[in-house]
Amino acid sequence: MRYGVCYYPEQWPKARWPIDAALMREAGVNVVRIAEFAWSKMEPRPGEFDWSWLDEIIGVLAAHGIQTVLGTPTATPPKWLMDRHPDLYMRDEKGHARGFGNRRHYCYNHAEYRRLSADIVERMAKRYGGHAHVTAWQIDNEFGCTDTIRCYCDNCRAAFQRWLKNKYGDIGTLNEAWGTVFWSHIYNEWEEIGLPAYTVFPMHNPGLHLDYMRFASDSVAEYQQVQVDVLRRESPDKPITHNFMGYFAEVDAYKLAGQLDFASWDNYPNLHFDEKADPLNPAVQHDMTWGLKRQPFWVMEQQSGSPGGNFIFAMPKPGELRRWTYQAVAHGADAILYFRWRTCLFGAEQYWHGLLPHDGIPGRRFEEAKRTGEELQRLSGRWLGAGAVAEVAVLRSYDNEWAMDIQPQSFGHRYMAHLKTYCRYFYERHIPVDIVAPDAPLGKYRLVVVPHDMLTDPAAAEALYAYASAGGTVVLDFRAGIKRPDNRMEERTIPGAYRDLLGLRVADYGSLRQADARAVTLEQGERAPEGFAGRVWYDILELEGAEAIAWYGEDFFAGTPAATRHAYGSGTAYYFATEPTQVLMAALMDRICAHAGVKPIHGISAPAGVEIARRKNGDKEYVFVLNHNEQPAALALAEPLDELIAGVKQAGEVWLEANGVLVFERAVR
Ligand code: GAL
Repeated sequence: MRYGVCYYPEQWPKARWPIDAALMREAGVNVVRIAEFAWSKMEPRPGEFDWSWLDEIIGVLAAHGIQTVLGTPTATPPKWLMDRHPDLYMRDEKGHARGFGNRRHYCYNHAEYRRLSADIVERMAKRYGGHAHVTAWQIDNEFGCTDTIRCYCDNCRAAFQRWLKNKYGDIGTLNEAWGTVFWSHIYNEWEEIGLPAYTVFPMHNPGLHLDYMRFASDSVAEYQQVQVDVLRRESPDKPITHNFMGYFAEVDAYKLAGQLDFASWDNYPNLHFDEKADPLNPAVQHDMTWGLKRQPFWVMEQQSGSPGGNFIFAMPKPGELRRWTYQAVAHGADAILYFRWRTCLFGAEQYWHGLLPHDGIPGRRFEEAKRTGEELQRLSGRWLGAGAVAEVAVLRSYDNEWAMDIQPQSFGHRYMAHLKTYCRYFYERHIPVDIVAPDAPLGKYRLVVVPHDMLTDPAAAEALYAYASAGGTVVLDFRAGIKRPDNRMEERTIPGAYRDLLGLRVADYGSLRQADARAVTLEQGERAPEGFAGRVWYDILELEGAEAIAWYGEDFFAGTPAATRHAYGSGTAYYFATEPTQVLMAALMDRICAHAGVKPIHGISAPAGVEIARRKNGDKEYVFVLNHNEQPAALALAEPLDELIAGVKQAGEVWLEANGVLVFERAVR
């Protein structure tokens, strides 16, 4: 297994490099990512290159048996470059340049920057593309990190006009699609069209706004492709990746991943202000990263100390690093690199703690990484390269997320928060899920959940019809089918394209404030059980073949259906007219899963806060049990199981310490 760290040799004296490499080796490190921010060390002055340090460090690492992942340095164009191209700075909605002093200060649509990026990448690729100790390329670093996808500069404006021309062909079609007759926005020429920037009130034409978001995402894909093309040409044998950011949604990661050989992401569980990290978050983001290419992925940066910018987030407690690492592996990670090797003595991230503290002396976190690495090297050969076995797919759609970001409709509502209500159910029930693109093949799943399919893409709708008709079970929910892909409202009665599939129509609807909920019952006319309610939204339904499986218990729509089931072909389509509270979600989904034949990972019962996840390889399955609690947890095994870490057979009641991990191997049933 690839096990490693992110390293910044340019930030340390050369004399320290062999000491670091030896310590890395001691920790079990066999891969190191370097160079992704080192442009000004590679090209200190325009056209003046220095590769000696990079040659040397790759050699030092190689001498210790460590392979290198090279990052292209384009996230940090040097000051000399910016001074030559002041129009390269991104601009905000008010047209202000977002200046020098941090990183990612460039616009993706700057033609000369594309050329300069291709040039530095080509030089790197020519030099290291065939190097025996360079194992992969990482392009740039975290596209979009710190609000750097959407730029409002003149280059972007011109590029947006070209993008639109290419999409719509003639201006009349665009005017029709966006409905520009509204408020006198009719355009005569492409050159008249602007970006959704600063206006008297922040409500742009939704068609223009969504197209701009698509365009901004496509700009990144085009920019990445420039680098991919160079690397494919100059370094055809080395795989290429990019380190994505899980939930981050301003760029369509499916599109970008399509250009790459494998997906990676950066996992920082403690980067939040809550007292305790919610272990659901890494789980969901691992599953999302898996879903980018539907294959094993890398965690290119795994938090290894307390994250810190101007203040400091929670320090991983003893056992957390190991638990996070196993959690990643359980969800399909085939490589883990800790961020960062040693905490830096200077710069904006001098409080961002790595495996080693500032003084460079190995301590608790180093020892934990070392132990974890030893275990994984011993075991991981059994499942590397294999993985997803989910019977459930949750479809993640950037288009729908963007449209909902523009118009959340219900105050404070977020697409991702909604998607997570489903994921939380599956996670708590120990049911593995794949989180995949709307155009992913659905045939192998027993259940497909489609949160907020607002902008009904005709091909995607057709795929859902075909899937249900062939026996699949679909869950759709409120706001499905209300819009066309151009972000105009659907003129047909909603749920538009889904009316036949769902066997119902939405007669009326309203939004609910976040704190408001309406009681929901699972039997018509009964009192709602504790906590059973719908929030965010209510659709008032008229059934046209569907049957109700839950009813509103209050308000003027009391007694009408809050959730429905409809037989379609040999399958079934469910509809949630409101967002179920988590207890109601559990009650509804338990029934739906039972009906669809979706089963939790069997044979191990565990208390709340214990996660059970699984990888399969051939006829064996590997069941990972992770105690995310701060107290020991009692598990009950239905039958004796082989536990791999301790190498013992376990049976009956098994105690798992706080942060503890077990890995069971058994034959697939
Ligand atoms: C990531 C980034 C790294 C480093 C780390 C800590 O988002 O890719 O370069 O900045 O966070 O901030």
